[in-house]
Amino acid sequence: MDSLLVNDANHVWHPLRQAQTDITVTPILSAKGSVLYGENGQEYLDMVSSWWVNLHGHAHPKIAKAIFDQAQTLEQVIFADLTHKPAVELASRLARLLPEPLTRVFFSDNGSTAVEVALKISYQYWHNQGQGYRKRFISFEGGYHGDTFGAMAAGNAAHFHAPFQEFLFDVDVMPYPHTFDGDREIEQKEASALQHFKDHLEKYGNQTASLIIEPLLQGSSGMRMCRPVFLQKMVAMAKSYGILVIFDEIMTGFGRTGSFFACQKASVTPDLICLSKGLTGGFLPLSVTVASESIYKAFLGDTFDKAFAHSHSFTANPLGCAAALASLELFEEENTLQKIKQIETWHHHHMAKLSKHPNVIKARIMGTIAAFDIKSEESKYALPIVATLKKAFLERGLLIRPLGNVVYLMPPYCTTEKQLTHAYDSIREVLDQI
Ligand SMILES: Cc1ncc(COP(=O)(O)O)c(C=O)c1O
Repeated sequence: MDSLLVNDANHVWHPLRQAQTDITVTPILSAKGSVLYGENGQEYLDMVSSWWVNLHGHAHPKIAKAIFDQAQTLEQVIFADLTHKPAVELASRLARLLPEPLTRVFFSDNGSTAVEVALKISYQYWHNQGQGYRKRFISFEGGYHGDTFGAMAAGNAAHFHAPFQEFLFDVDVMPYPHTFDGDREIEQKEASALQHFKDHLEKYGNQTASLIIEPLLQGSSGMRMCRPVFLQKMVAMAKSYGILVIFDEIMTGFGRTGSFFACQKASVTPDLICLSKGLTGGFLPLSVTVASESIYKAFLGDTFDKAFAHSHSFTANPLGCAAALASLELFEEENTLQKIKQIETWHHHHMAKLSKHPNVIKARIMGTIAAFDIKSEESKYALPIVATLKKAFLERGLLIRPLGNVVYLMPPYCTTEKQLTHAYDSIREVLDQI
């Protein structure tokens, strides 16, 4: 083993892996476009957009330059009583891109903190208006919202969070009718989920502060897709009880589902939206929780106690904001929505063939994301087969990280037809062998 791997093994604690049994970590020296370069010239196609953050390709010169220029001008400044151009420009741009009532941008550093902020805002919103009895939260079976305590409570990822269960506040978990190509039971699953939701609201709707959902697509629980019609009906019911609706678009934002935001694809507008991951094009950690103006106004008053007393040292970091602005400009300059459409078309072409493979079930595609289940008795996250699959994919020059028995592709938007064809051909080869 070379010194990098020895020192890594001795000193680094990597996230989300069982170091004792998992495959060895792979050193990456550099990256360009959709390709990661290993130590000895190996090439790996990044088919997970580096944990779903990368949009326009690695080391994009425009974003790199924006960060470099910003670093030489203003790298960081306290955001409590001061402000700066990159943050104001980014907030204004996001407000223009998002549906109408979402105008107030609160900055934080990552997806989990954006969720914490949304949950806290929704709770304090009622408290500030003398309706502190609205203490309940609703979330959905299979939801994942991050790994901090509030985000863990809102999520339902027992495979990640089991040791902490007794410390997590109670959340009312509703059924989530996920679907796939050729699903004949979806109408009935939706009807039953909506009935359950209605019954719950009749009992507890007036005590509920907010609900949180990953709109149209649950990422971590296995790229589980729902239909817009479910979201529309469910949100309409929640709003009729005044419940604040939080959309966690940390993964679905910035084009992943084919529209700029999933809420637009679903024609549903939430009261709060959480964005991160692709926000900076995948270059720097930054997140936002965007609220409607009426929510913002509920925090105004003569005394401090109504204010939202939440902050992070690096709130609205200028480098992150500059990267985000450059990334948003790229959407126009590189006609990114067209590239996204193209990727979706290629997915359909390849998946039509792959879904006939005897080991493949429940194929599904939304925008740039394609997924299927490997036929398996079990579906839990850390199936032993996952390590075997990851290794087989790496050997074929692919970075693909199955979620249990779910294999998915979420390529950066610069991915070419040739690269995607290589990914599908390799997947077929690996499936033939298992
Ligand atoms: C939908 C969703 N919400 C929240 C998070 C947490 O984001 P972060 O890992 O940046 O804390 C994730 C991360 O995968 C996510 O997919």
